Amino acid sequence: MKALILVGGFGTRLRPLTLTLPKPLVEFGNRPMILHQIEHLAQAGVTDIVLAVNYRPEIMVAALQSYEQEYNVKITFSVETEPLGTAGPLALARDILAKDDSPFFVLNSDITCDYPFEQLRDFHLSHGNEGTIVVTKVDDPSKYGVIVNQAGHDSKIERFVEKPKVFISNKINAGIYILNPSVLDRIELKPTSIEKEVFPFIAQDGELHTFDLDGFWMDVGQPKDYLTGTCLYLTHLAKKQSHLLSDPTTHDYVHKGNVMVHPSAKIGQGCRIGPNVVIGPGVTVGDGVRLQRCVIMEGATIKDYAWVQSSIVGWNSSVGRWSRLEGCSVLGDDVTINDEIYVNGGSILPHKSISANITEPQIIM
Ligand code: GDD
Ligand code: MG
Repeated sequence: MKALILVGGFGTRLRPLTLTLPKPLVEFGNRPMILHQIEHLAQAGVTDIVLAVNYRPEIMVAALQSYEQEYNVKITFSVETEPLGTAGPLALARDILAKDDSPFFVLNSDITCDYPFEQLRDFHLSHGNEGTIVVTKVDDPSKYGVIVNQAGHDSKIERFVEKPKVFISNKINAGIYILNPSVLDRIELKPTSIEKEVFPFIAQDGELHTFDLDGFWMDVGQPKDYLTGTCLYLTHLAKKQSHLLSDPTTHDYVHKGNVMVHPSAKIGQGCRIGPNVVIGPGVTVGDGVRLQRCVIMEGATIKDYAWVQSSIVGWNSSVGRWSRLEGCSVLGDDVTINDEIYVNGGSILPHKSISANITEPQIIM
């Protein structure tokens, strides 16, 4: 089987992390975001993966080469000379996607869930129409594609409205599709939105279905949602793959569970860590540190008695003794927070050193 991942643009909403790495390579649960998708696609029998990008992909090409062998998939980069939106990239990759007459998966690269590829494929083949969209329910559907099913029909879609201004339903597009190659005949090779210019018409023809997602889902393309998505993912692991989390019976620093610590990280004495914390490779956590709902990336240092809550500490950064980070603060690569500093909602660009308190959310360049 085949799949195309919409990798897209510069990931500006996930700055300052994306100033250092392209969004798909930013770690989520200690592994590059895109690797979660590649792994699940491979498990479902996908052998051809197209990554649709609209910037120079050199860093990604190098990083992903090793995964081709590891997961036994062929990864092709399809590079746009101008951003082609969410549908144009399918036309650009037509040669691969239409190669045989079988359906292909399409994924937004910034979403996380318990990917249901095999069930999705089975359901899609069972109804025989052109496309199936994975859907989930959210409280605030206004920033998503919203879906209304046909009256009296469990799965057939009547309307697809991208980011509606008025409430029509709380069933949203989760950003995972399976489509027949015939859909390619509906897409021209030019900047096109699949949500606005393709799905509404397939729905009109009665050829588009929903597939309900079980379990967690999140678009993790911005820091606040990345943290929420991390909590959901860790909660999911606690239920399904608890061996990936620190065992509270043998690690007394674990507080209320959902703590993932890379084996190469060092944790000091008397720390209280959790719930919902990810600690990356080579991280050093000092003594008496309090971590809660946060992600500490590779090579970072959290010094003695620091407190980090609802924040992301980027690669190789350091948080000083007795310092406090909260309010969705994000430190880019190699940021230094000096001792006894308070940071609330700071978004701090790579290589900065902070020696005065940041009490209100702001970007430090
Ligand atoms: N190759 C390529 N080229 N990819 C692109 C382009 C482009 O020009 N523009 C966007 N993408 C990629 C993004 O990187 C992302 O993976 C995906 O397409 C969706 O774009 P976003 O910018 O993240 O859209 P969104 O989050 O506002 O809305 C989309 O996702 C929601 C679910 O998270 C829509 O598909 C909504 O309908 C959906 O509910
Ligand atoms: Mg998105």
